[in-house]
Amino acid sequence: MSSNKVTLEKIVSLCKRRGFVFQSAEIYSGLNGVYDFGPLGAKLKQNIKNSWIDFVNKAEDEIVFLDGSILGAQAVWKASGHTDNFSDPLVDCQNCKKRFRADDIDLEKACPACGVKKWTDVRQFKLMFETELGAVSDKSNIAYLRPETAQSIFVNFKNVMNSSRVKIPFGIAQIGKAFRNEITPKQFLFRMREFEQMELEFFCKEENAEKFFNKWVELRINYFKKLGLNSEKIRTRPHEKDELAHYSKSCVDVEYNFPFGWKELEGIAYRTDYDLKQHAKHSGKDLSVFDQETGESYYPHVIECSVGVDRLFLTILFDAYTEDEIEGEKRTSLKLHPQIAPITAAILPLSKKLSNNCKNIYESLKQKGYSIQFDDSGSIGKRYRRQDEIGTPVCFTFDFDSVQDNKVTARNRDTLKQERISIDQVENYIKNLLEK
Ligand code: GAP
Repeated sequence: MSSNKVTLEKIVSLCKRRGFVFQSAEIYSGLNGVYDFGPLGAKLKQNIKNSWIDFVNKAEDEIVFLDGSILGAQAVWKASGHTDNFSDPLVDCQNCKKRFRADDIDLEKACPACGVKKWTDVRQFKLMFETELGAVSDKSNIAYLRPETAQSIFVNFKNVMNSSRVKIPFGIAQIGKAFRNEITPKQFLFRMREFEQMELEFFCKEENAEKFFNKWVELRINYFKKLGLNSEKIRTRPHEKDELAHYSKSCVDVEYNFPFGWKELEGIAYRTDYDLKQHAKHSGKDLSVFDQETGESYYPHVIECSVGVDRLFLTILFDAYTEDEIEGEKRTSLKLHPQIAPITAAILPLSKKLSNNCKNIYESLKQKGYSIQFDDSGSIGKRYRRQDEIGTPVCFTFDFDSVQDNKVTARNRDTLKQERISIDQVENYIKNLLEK
């Protein structure tokens, strides 16, 4: 008997079946740790990003946006410490040639893949992807695909301050791709080689850093709750002293209880003035800020909130995935928040004969910018189940009475409640859902 519990396999299968996520280059047997987002996945991902942009825009403190380049100069990554330190411990099995992160397995035991115990020494494996710019092969032409978006923010700190009317305290936010040559990409979108980050670097005076750190932790937790994530599955875990990165004074992971355990969803770190000072030292440019009150210059301290778009995407799917039974029939649904559901509403004529009578409802909502689907193929039950499975919060069914009374039946994905509403109230119904 199959269990109702959500598993990674169920999520991967739904993602492929319904066009959320595909393995990259699948027809050529795939590229490990790299994924493409299908029609519904692209929409869900964009909605997640929009929710973060909205969070940033509505913040009490001033925050501006940046869209930095993906290719990063060698000097940037040398200064940030990534060239020397951004690596994972790696071991190879000499028998089956499989590679593992040394901290993922017990080296006292045999290889989990082939059962033979014949390990190489542990080596440090560099996680940054390196490339060469231009036609001349020369070490000075080396560039890196950024392993985090944060450094584009630090190297542009002075550009932003000089060109915008921002004053400390303020933040710079960015959404963008990051790349890491993970030794063992795993758990689908959890650990990927190409992924997207949403990062906020908040600059403040040192004496206010702790206050802002606590404030951002609280704000970010509220963000996840507002997205509809089950609050019992979210917790914060402060890092132990020996876990802290060399630049960090304190760090809290926002963790989610995945089927494979409590894992980091977002990292919130007090990065001190480390990054700005490093870039000032390596570039020779003064990145300090002049304080009008004291007449002295100082280096602002930084609070960072960093979350992966794809990891949040996966978290949302785990959280929303539900299996239940309706009138003896199994149903899978995604209880997505209406604001992030890829399709907000579906217009379903009860019979194909009615399609022409209600196409205009669909067209008019679409023209107003709502994400709407029109579906007239298959039994109505099948169509409901399809919409449930992709997380559509409401379906409007147009039946033979609708022609006479200008009403449709609104069916709610979660409560299954059906109510008859006038066609001219359909848009309001959708608006109400989106405002929740
Ligand atoms: N700038 C700080 C930074 O990059 P991180 O903890 O390495 O810190 C921040 O990454 C967030 O980015 C993680 O909490 C996770 O959500 C996401 N992330 C990191 N590596 C990832 C990977 N390989 N695949 C998917 N998401 C990843």
